[in-house]
Amino acid sequence: MRTGVWLVGARGSVATTSMVGALALRAGLAEPTGCVTELPELRGPALPSFADLVFGGHDVVATPLPKRAEALAAAGVLPGRVVDALAGELAEVEAALRPAPTGGSPAERVAAVARDLSEFRHRHALDRVVVVNVSATEPAPEPHPAHHDLAALRGALAGPAEVLPPSSRYAYAAFTAGCPYVDFTPSTGARLPALAALAEERGLPYAGHDGKTGETLVKSVLAPMFAMRHLAVRSWSGVNLLGGGDGATLAEPAANAAKVASKQRVLGETLGYVPEGDTRIDHVAELGDFKTAWDLVTFAGFLGTGMRLEFTWHGCDSALAAPLVLDLARLTAAAHAAGRTGPLTELAFFFKDGIDAPTHALAEQWTLLREFVAGLHAGAGR
Ligand SMILES: NC(=O)c1ccc[n+]([C@@H]2O[C@H](COP(=O)([O-])OP(=O)(O)OC[C@H]3O[C@@H](n4cnc5c(N)ncnc54)[C@H](O)[C@@H]3O)[C@@H](O)[C@H]2O)c1
Repeated sequence: MRTGVWLVGARGSVATTSMVGALALRAGLAEPTGCVTELPELRGPALPSFADLVFGGHDVVATPLPKRAEALAAAGVLPGRVVDALAGELAEVEAALRPAPTGGSPAERVAAVARDLSEFRHRHALDRVVVVNVSATEPAPEPHPAHHDLAALRGALAGPAEVLPPSSRYAYAAFTAGCPYVDFTPSTGARLPALAALAEERGLPYAGHDGKTGETLVKSVLAPMFAMRHLAVRSWSGVNLLGGGDGATLAEPAANAAKVASKQRVLGETLGYVPEGDTRIDHVAELGDFKTAWDLVTFAGFLGTGMRLEFTWHGCDSALAAPLVLDLARLTAAAHAAGRTGPLTELAFFFKDGIDAPTHALAEQWTLLREFVAGLHAGAGR
């Protein structure tokens, strides 16, 4: 099953790490550590292999991919020997990257993205192309009536005014070109009623939002524990320090607000109440792609006795995110091949703020994922 993976934000840290990782796996230069789909519970015939994945993508910057990979190697994110060994393959992927369309009306820019996707599919004789958004986090957009109605949105896109944020324009273009769409960022993407209607009309699946790779991952394990032991969480405060391109973007208050909202959802939904405290994200350029999160949880036990839990997470953000991007591309491709349409709620395991997530507890999400993937394999074996 030759599967295109079209990365929006293709020259960023997560995208570059995902592509280098897939090429390294294909060449036998790395182990699939961190790739959930390589666990015995999920592996099977429905998923495209790493060798089946062909990469392309859009970006607004032009830094050559091999240069970006070298910079990530120098920063300790990627092993230098692997980047050196993959120089030829990275140059090939570079040739498949396209500049993000600029100028013209919103409808023309959407059409240009859809054209790039169709051309990519034909040139590489791909069975399907999954579009994955790993571009910079956007602020939440101003509400617009056309977000709620597909006919109104089609009309509005033809006008000069910008009614969709870039992530939603990419989702619109993906659906128009017959491609499933995955949003690894907290941006709006396909999460608008008009775009849900377009996905339905074209018979396409989509998934999101915001990859769960660090502090929120730990929260989605610990919060259910407090709930199951009937302990009362009084406060939960977190401070995240990160550098890199993502850290610089999140220094912007509006993008920061979108990310923080996405990170906080797990507590209210898992505990049934919102404890005191906030999650903060601060930009520290020196940290690069390595993130530190400190969390302090205060809770009350029997007869109101006060207690506390603290944890520190030191993670390499792109190393944690990239295998999940590959997992999501493989799973969404398999879901598309199986004829699934609409939001893939069973992929909530991967997201901070899963679309229509039935639960925010990681263990329950894992059960849903296993059942979903078992169904895909059973269908593929028939
Ligand atoms: N790393 C993680 O653990 C993690 C977890 C969850 C979500 N994310 C999200 O993944 C995204 C990527 O993170 P990163 O560390 O790679 O960031 P990055 O800044 O390194 O990369 C983002 C890339 O997007 C490009 N871009 C910006 N606007 C664009 C547009 N309109 N069209 C096409 N490309 C555009 C930028 O030029 C850049 O190359 C961020 O939104 C981040 O919040 C990351």
